[in-house]
Amino acid sequence: QTDIPNVKSVVTEFPVGAAITGAEILNEHGQLLSKHFNSVTPGNALKWDATEPTENTFNYTQADPLITYAKANGLAIRGHTFVWHNQTPAWVFQRADGTAMTGTADDKTLLLSRLTNHIRNVGGHYGSSIGTWDVVNEVIDESQSDGNRRSSWYNIAGLDYIRTAFKVAREVLPNAKLCINDYNTNVAAKRDFLYNLVATLKGEGIPIDCVGHQMHINVSWPTVADTEAMIQKFVPLGVTQQITEMDVSIYTSSSETFPTPPADRLLSQAYKYRDMFALFRKYASAISSVTLWGLADDNTWLDTYPVSRKDAPLLFDTTLQAKSAYWGVVDPTKIG
Ligand code: G3I
Repeated sequence: QTDIPNVKSVVTEFPVGAAITGAEILNEHGQLLSKHFNSVTPGNALKWDATEPTENTFNYTQADPLITYAKANGLAIRGHTFVWHNQTPAWVFQRADGTAMTGTADDKTLLLSRLTNHIRNVGGHYGSSIGTWDVVNEVIDESQSDGNRRSSWYNIAGLDYIRTAFKVAREVLPNAKLCINDYNTNVAAKRDFLYNLVATLKGEGIPIDCVGHQMHINVSWPTVADTEAMIQKFVPLGVTQQITEMDVSIYTSSSETFPTPPADRLLSQAYKYRDMFALFRKYASAISSVTLWGLADDNTWLDTYPVSRKDAPLLFDTTLQAKSAYWGVVDPTKIG
């Protein structure tokens, strides 16, 4: 569709982006991306398993084509992610003799030196061409009494993995926005733990610039009020906020399955996008980018999570045509 407004020409308060999880940048998805968006997040290509599959052997074959495309088309780039508990090779948490680290002083020293080496190499490879990095991803677990996710990172190094990651990222990337990114920050218990962690670490001088809200939501959850509370919570911390992985599932429970997306769900989805984008634009002084976790419904992680079923969470359908959700963002008078 060449006759419809570009998302980026309508939403001008902050960069709007999409994640590209595979090689689809090389086909017509690339055109759709650069027509509508002015930011991109490599959805998998910058993760540890892609960039350092074996120790100190760095591999940019997945990410480089995407970064080259983004630069050639003037897209801002969000780096995702230096530290996560998923998509991290087993060797990272093993001693030189192949046994599992348990959290001895030597284990912690080795793990933090691997982390330092990883960020220096991956961050250094792209330098200032990546303006924002998710330095750590999903470190909060509100089911723990202290809110800290019991990942291998935490079990071996305590919170020092977070301190080290931000300090090294700042050394390597003095001008990048450095983010702590998490999901379900619409939930009060979770965002309170995140807030307390960021407040504590910033109080120690750890260079956290940004809180990332993933915003994996659905047609009936969360409310605008929940999401407004989420944004307001972090304003006093003096960090910028970014919406980093937004999508709106048509499903409201893991037991539903639709062969094709029902019209009423697509309508609810359009209203959800309308209401959330109106909120983000209202808080434009606090929000420095909004990214969707994918471009079109032909490629979404929700097709396999939480169960295998076809979902339709994005602005464009499986044939890359604009959905009602697109109109929710661009011109709500045209929804339906
Ligand atoms: O590349 C291989 C391919 O060679 C193989 O044939 C195929 C068979 O399963 O797998 C392919 O790898 C998959 C990869 O995506 C690329 O498509 C992995 O199995 C699959 O696990 C991986 O899923 C990614 C997921 O993170 C992993 O945890 C999703 O694409 C990606 O969208 C998702 O992104 C995360 C964010 O990083 C953090 N927040 C949540 C978000 C959604 O889960």
